[in-house]
Order: sequence, then C-alpha cells, then structure tokens
Amino acid sequence: MKVLVTGGMGYIGSHTCIQMLAAGIEPIIVDNLCNSKLAVLDRIEALTKVRPAFYQGDIRDEAFLNQVFSEHEIQSVIHFAGLKAVGESVAKPLEYYDNNVNGSLVLMRAMRNAGVKSIVFSSSATVYGDPSSVPITEDSPVGETTNPYGRSKFMVESCLSDFYAAEQDWSITLLRYFNPVGAHPSGTLGEDPQGPPNNLMPFIAQVAVGRRDTLSVFGDDYPTPDGTGVRDYIHVMDLADGHVAALHKVAQQSGLHTFNLGTGNGTSVIQMIDAFVQASGQQIPYQICPRRPGDIAECWASTDKAEQQLGWKATRDVKQMAADTWHWQSNNPQGY
Ligand code: NAD
Ligand code: UFG
Repeated sequence: MKVLVTGGMGYIGSHTCIQMLAAGIEPIIVDNLCNSKLAVLDRIEALTKVRPAFYQGDIRDEAFLNQVFSEHEIQSVIHFAGLKAVGESVAKPLEYYDNNVNGSLVLMRAMRNAGVKSIVFSSSATVYGDPSSVPITEDSPVGETTNPYGRSKFMVESCLSDFYAAEQDWSITLLRYFNPVGAHPSGTLGEDPQGPPNNLMPFIAQVAVGRRDTLSVFGDDYPTPDGTGVRDYIHVMDLADGHVAALHKVAQQSGLHTFNLGTGNGTSVIQMIDAFVQASGQQIPYQICPRRPGDIAECWASTDKAEQQLGWKATRDVKQMAADTWHWQSNNPQGY
C-alpha cells in the first residue's frame, strides 16, 4: 500500500514513516521543510534501509499535489502538515488559518482530482477545550477552543465532517492526539524545535543537556494532586503505531472515524520532571511561575474506542518516554 504523508519530515510524521515501513506500507512524503530538515530523510534511510520518495513543496500548491498524485498509485493520505505553536498562532492567525485550514482544503481538492478517497487527519485534544470531566471520550463536547491553532484544528474537523456528509464513499479518520513526546529508541530521530521550545518535554530535555538554564513551571495552584498541570503524554512510537492501526483497520472503510490517541494516564509537570531526572541522571533546575494563559488543569483520554476498533493501545510508559527523549537529546544536543 502506498500512502501520501504530508508533513512526513516532521516530528510525528517521521516516526510514523518508520513504523509504516516496518509494516510494509510505502510512504510518499510531501513537506515544504518550514519546520523540519532534509537530514530527517537520511536518518529514516539509515534506520530502515529505504529512502522514501520525497517531494519538497507546499500543500497549498494544488498543481504540485496533482503532479505527486499522478506519479504514484496512492491509496490513502495521512495529513500531518501544518503549523502547531499555540502562542505563535495568536500572533499570526492569518498564517495559521491559511496553512492549516486552506492547506487541508487544497489537499482535499487534489485528492478528489486524483480519486483518492481516504484521509487520516492529525487533530488534537485541543478541540475538547477545557473538559468538564476526565477521561475525555470521543463524544465529549468539542469546539470551545481558546486560540487560533485550536480553532484551525476544529475547523478542519468540521470541514471534513461536512465533506463526509456529502460524499459518503470517503474514509475520513480524525485522530485526536493528546501530548506526543519521546523519540525513536535508536536516538537518531526526535523532536527538534526551532527556537525556545513551547512544550514541556523538549524544554526539560534542553535544560538537561545544558542548552537552557531553568525550566519555568507554569502554575502550582491547579486543582491537581501536586498543583501542577496534568496531561496524557503519549510516546511518539505508540502514536506512530496508532496511525498504522488506523491505516489497516479504518482507512479502507468508508465512514467518518474519530479516535483519541492517548494512554489514559495523567502525569503532572512535577512527575515528568522527576521521571526525566531519573532517566537522565541530570539536574533539572526549575522555578514556579504564574499560570500560562489558556492552559487547562488536567486532561487525559479515554482509550476504549481506539482499543476496541483499532486494536491499538499505547504500551510505553513515562519512564520510557523520558529515557528515549534523553537518548535523542544527549546524542543530538543541537538537534538535526
Ligand atoms: P512538525 O512541525 O514537526 O511537523 C509538521 C511538518 O509539516 C513539518 O515538517 C513542516 O515542515 C511541514 N509543513 C508545515 N506546513 C506545510 C505546508 N504548508 N506544506 C507542506 N509541509 C508543511 O509537527 P508535529 O509535531 O510532527 O505535528 C504533526 C501534526 O500533528 C500537526 O498537524 C500538528 O498540529 C498535529 N499535532 C501535534 C501535536 C504535538 O504536540 N506535536 C499535538 C496534537 C496535534
Ligand atoms: N509547561 C510548563 N513549562 C513549560 C511548558 C509547559 O510548566 O515550559 C506545562 C504546561 O503549563 C502544561 C504542561 O506543561 O501544564 C504541558 O504543556 P505543553 O505545552 O507541553 O502541552 P499542552 O498540553 O499545553 O499542549 C499540547 C500541544 C498542543 C495540543 C495540546 C492538546 O502543544 O498543540 O497538547 O493536544 F493542542
């Protein structure tokens, strides 16, 4: 099976390509490299002995996409490409809506031109906003998002769902990721944020490796066991396996399929720092700071639906997430 992977050079896309190749699925990568490096392709090749087809270009360029589709017998698309920094989305809403919403619409048009009717979309737990209860099921309310990034994900979900209502021979899969962290166990692929990391795990890793002095812990007065924010961190290799499961189980069946991809476990900021100290043997100096605007107290996934319908369940624990992140960061202190 050949699958077009938009954003396949990025953090989650690159790990997913590795797991696809291991499962005998051929990725065809499209990426404009706005947030990734060509070196990723060499790393994928070194790990798998396969150099996937790669097209450098933008998903908003329909003629470019038409050309890629014309060169391969593509059965499905996994759509990772997009911008993902919450804070930046507040400062640059036009760029975020253009890339994430318009880009997805152009991709859908190119898919329709080519007669490819199966898409797996990278959505986010951010569509649930501040949940009224946990664990969050796929039926929990969506749409109360607090920033342009979150709204762009909710808009694309809405567009895809409207599209499915009109064209029911399509297979549309919405995967709502919780908090992806970790790295390939080889230590050769991982997350490589440009500039200061926005997210907890890469920030901790850069403090551990000496690139940054101190971690700011955003709030210790949440109604959680230790007062710091609780999230459902999921190892990127488990997330990658979740995509392979989706390709096998639902991407060839018409329908609108929605799944949470999380572990079902909550971990606080302080617990994650402790896990990282244990895994790395490094000190992680931190200071308690005010809450970050827009943050919620806690969120974790109900994993029942993915387990039942995809036959997929995350298996790697927080210890493994910290160990693999450290392996990657200590081997690649400056990233790729
Ligand atoms: P990433 O930035 O590492 O990967 C995205 C890739 O898409 C990059 O390689 C970038 O160069 C490419 N890209 C961006 N705009 C493009 C365009 N217009 N045309 C072609 N390529 C383009 O991000 P990631 O962490 O791997 O996230 C992948 C997807 O998962 C994104 O859609 C993101 O919103 C979603 N997601 C991520 C997280 C997370 O915490 N990492 C959580 C929930 C959802
Ligand atoms: N945090 C800190 N210090 C930091 C960074 C984060 O204390 O330097 C805390 C946050 O306050 C929060 C927790 O660590 O309590 C996790 O924060 P992240 O920024 O790592 O992750 P978020 O849950 O805020 O957001 C992530 C992705 C979003 C996605 C969302 C839900 O960044 O894209 O998960 O899936 F929408």
